[in-house]
Amino acid sequence: MRVVVSIGGSVLAPNLDARRVEDHAAVVETLAEAGCDIAAVVGGGGVARDYIGTARELGANEVQLDQIGIDVTRINARLLIAALGPRVDPKVARDYEDAGDAVRRGDVSIMGGIMPGQTTDAVAAALAEYVDADLLVYATSVDGVYDADPSSQDGAQKYTQLLPTELVDVVAPMSRDAGASAPVDLLAAKLIQRAGMRTIVLDGADPQHIKSAVLDGEHNGTDIIPPDATDDLATWVRAER
Ligand code: UTP
Repeated sequence: MRVVVSIGGSVLAPNLDARRVEDHAAVVETLAEAGCDIAAVVGGGGVARDYIGTARELGANEVQLDQIGIDVTRINARLLIAALGPRVDPKVARDYEDAGDAVRRGDVSIMGGIMPGQTTDAVAAALAEYVDADLLVYATSVDGVYDADPSSQDGAQKYTQLLPTELVDVVAPMSRDAGASAPVDLLAAKLIQRAGMRTIVLDGADPQHIKSAVLDGEHNGTDIIPPDATDDLATWVRAER
């Protein structure tokens, strides 16, 4: 099974904690040892936001701010590479072709952002399509897709399952609200819809959640299931492995 995992910066490196990065790397290695082809896309998290905020005060334009964000995602990617064993491509992949080549060679490929005007959510979705992944997993700081922001709205309801079209409908209004943070942004949702990509959004604070989802089909997040997929996740995962 070929899997792309998107690991939010706020999940991998909310602060500099070697143990946390090692725990994520261990899960990536376990998936690879279980026979999965793996590529991971790493976000920038709070550190990227801090740099971007400071640079904005200094007068940087939006493209320059995005470039700073991309640099931070790549530094986080380097941390994950540092924690991974010999199966990893030691380069941070700079584009989808680099990542695709590494995956086809049998290496684990790690990338951060690639170009201004988007986030690593979209990079992960495009990479999943490019490498013809079977599954895309978003390990985020939220434990799934909700109908409203659960950090500010009591009573926000989590979806256990969505069609890709429904995901687009759910995140579109969230993406229009300034400062609102959908667990997967609108561009990523549209790429998932276009590709018909089987996707899971889950709480990545404990990387074991990623392992259970990919190897056993068990998680407490949201399954985004394309309309032509008939099996439930656990049955599907068993058949794919
Ligand atoms: P993230 O993907 O971490 O952004 O990239 P985010 O969604 O704001 O972070 P989380 O999910 O809350 O942790 C950090 C920043 O890097 C730039 C953007 O400015 C983004 O906000 N970036 C990232 C790009 O411009 N292009 C990319 O391909 C990736």
